[in-house]
Amino acid sequence: MINKNTSLRMQSIVFIGFMGVGKTTIGQKVAQKLYRDFVDIDREIEKEFNMPTTEIFKTFGEKVFREKEKSMIDSFSKQQLKIISVGGGAFLQEDIRNICLSNCIVFYLDLSWDYWKERIGLLIDSRPVLQSRTLEEIEELFYTRQEIYSYHHSKVNTNDLDVDEVADFIVDSLKVAWDIYEPLK
Ligand code: S3P
Repeated sequence: MINKNTSLRMQSIVFIGFMGVGKTTIGQKVAQKLYRDFVDIDREIEKEFNMPTTEIFKTFGEKVFREKEKSMIDSFSKQQLKIISVGGGAFLQEDIRNICLSNCIVFYLDLSWDYWKERIGLLIDSRPVLQSRTLEEIEELFYTRQEIYSYHHSKVNTNDLDVDEVADFIVDSLKVAWDIYEPLK
């Protein structure tokens, strides 16, 4: 479902995956290596509301957050040469999945539960979706969410890799794809 109107080399790259898998950190690193601008959709939403995500959820509710998430992603994914990190719940919306898959190259950052659960303490304060859930409920959410991440163009398992290794893998695989499908003359 890749957009045939924009050259593959120009298409923006979108990172998806569960909260805290490293979409922002890895996205920033890939942006640096490819000399592209990085966009974190959550930060863009926070800038617009002028408050952190937890406050947006509390004050306006999740529905308002999700609507803003969709319009932000719609606008950024149609721009070229961006590296975009979207929130872990964005792909719940079919419209967002379709927008991203048809305009961008979508990478799924896959981290196993046993590795992910070690990070929970670092995430809980800033992730409203995790708050007021037990560990068992979070685990259930983690596994239920895997279905929405199955919509991607490419997947990287990051369990035993550091940020640079993941970013290098992504950049190398992009370069291979660009050379195969759009060789430089
Ligand atoms: C959410 C993930 C968060 C943020 C919001 C909701 C989710 O983004 O969009 O708190 O529903 O999974 P990260 O995946 O960047 O943590």
